[in-house]
Amino acid sequence: MDASAIAEFDLLNVPAGYVADPYPYLAALREHAPVHRNPDGTYVLTRYDDCVAAYRDPAIWSSDKKADFAPKFGVDAPLYEHHTTSVVFIDPPDHTRIRKLFQFAFTRKALAAFEPRITALVDGYLDRFEDQGAMEVVEEFSFKLPIEVVCDMLGVPAEDRLLIRDWAVAILTALEPKLTQAQLDTGNRSVVEFKAYLRDLLKHRRANPDAAQPTEVLTVLADAEQDGERLTELELLHCCIFMLNAGHETSTNMLSHGVHEMLRHPDQIARLRAGPELIEPMVEEVLRYQAPIQINNRRSLQETELSGVTLPAGTTVHMIVAAANRDPAQFPDPDRFDIARRPNRHLAFASGPHQCIGMAVARLEGRVSIQRFLERFPDYKLADGADRSPRLRFRGFIALPADLKSV
Ligand code: HEM
Repeated sequence: MDASAIAEFDLLNVPAGYVADPYPYLAALREHAPVHRNPDGTYVLTRYDDCVAAYRDPAIWSSDKKADFAPKFGVDAPLYEHHTTSVVFIDPPDHTRIRKLFQFAFTRKALAAFEPRITALVDGYLDRFEDQGAMEVVEEFSFKLPIEVVCDMLGVPAEDRLLIRDWAVAILTALEPKLTQAQLDTGNRSVVEFKAYLRDLLKHRRANPDAAQPTEVLTVLADAEQDGERLTELELLHCCIFMLNAGHETSTNMLSHGVHEMLRHPDQIARLRAGPELIEPMVEEVLRYQAPIQINNRRSLQETELSGVTLPAGTTVHMIVAAANRDPAQFPDPDRFDIARRPNRHLAFASGPHQCIGMAVARLEGRVSIQRFLERFPDYKLADGADRSPRLRFRGFIALPADLKSV
């Protein structure tokens, strides 16, 4: 793709083939227009170094989304309240304070307690597949595990987990660049219902303190205190909603891509079989190669420059993680899926002060599930009917049927 073909690129109206394969478009942008002015006046960043610069300097690049979300949702809308209160879309000093409190819930000890639970869940799904001889990977595997894990972490009872799924999807869909009125309405309703649900759960926990696990995030966060600071009730509710959302669909997409990419690269399955210690770099390579979150945003607080382009204060940038993760200046032969790639400083979990708090949980889910899957079903193959989600920010599958019988 040459410079003139990419000059008109519009992230709000991507070309027809973009969802199936965004990488040729992103490579052309990175080469010819790494700081590309989108028709709506925002900028699209595709170089690794530019994305890292924006991630790491909150004094210049703000995560606060009030200016973007006021016209999008309306300042009185529940979606506005949620997306401007949760930890990911705020700046210091509030971000520093809330993140510190949040980290109470993500200790090494809490994580270690999850490994046997994750292994048991994965084995249970795989037992069913063995009986059936076939499976729908998204519905029966990669979607199920993260929601169980994040609901376990938070202390959401088993019978309520499907409710959470629908709310999470509706609230995250509202972050897509373009929305219908129906999507907005569902998103707003979901925030209201989710908040009421968590308020009740918290009340129940307060009334029955013995029912809570010591590592349960809801109660850990409600009680967390640092330097005399605590979360307000509104911050607590929105942080929990965000955590349920953040820790769910992202991991689902990582697991679906893990299964999909390994199948597309049988040479890499053979490498992993010969060197099981490659499981951890393999998970990193899946995250690099098909970043579950493909776009993050920041807004400039002052005039600044990236790759020789001057950007005035108030500029919104889209950091295209999917493009940065395939920047040849950072990753030699970037379109090659190489499970032994080292170093692999991908940006799937972002970088800087907002870097993903849950990345150790996600890595654990990836390691345990893909390892168990390949050990038990080394010869699985995909069946017809794989269907990609049309969303741009979250890259994943709606359906991924697989045949577990030997090929
Ligand atoms: C493969 C799975 C995951 C991916 C790709 C992912 C990706 C990300 C990214 C890119 C950000 C930064 C957004 C920004 O800077 O604008 C982020 C933040 C965050 N993630 Fe994750 N995430 C994953 C799993 C999880 C899990 C499992 C949890 C919790 C259980 C979680 C909790 C969070 C939280 C709380 C933040 C906000 C951090 C802050 O703003 O300081 N994530 N994640």
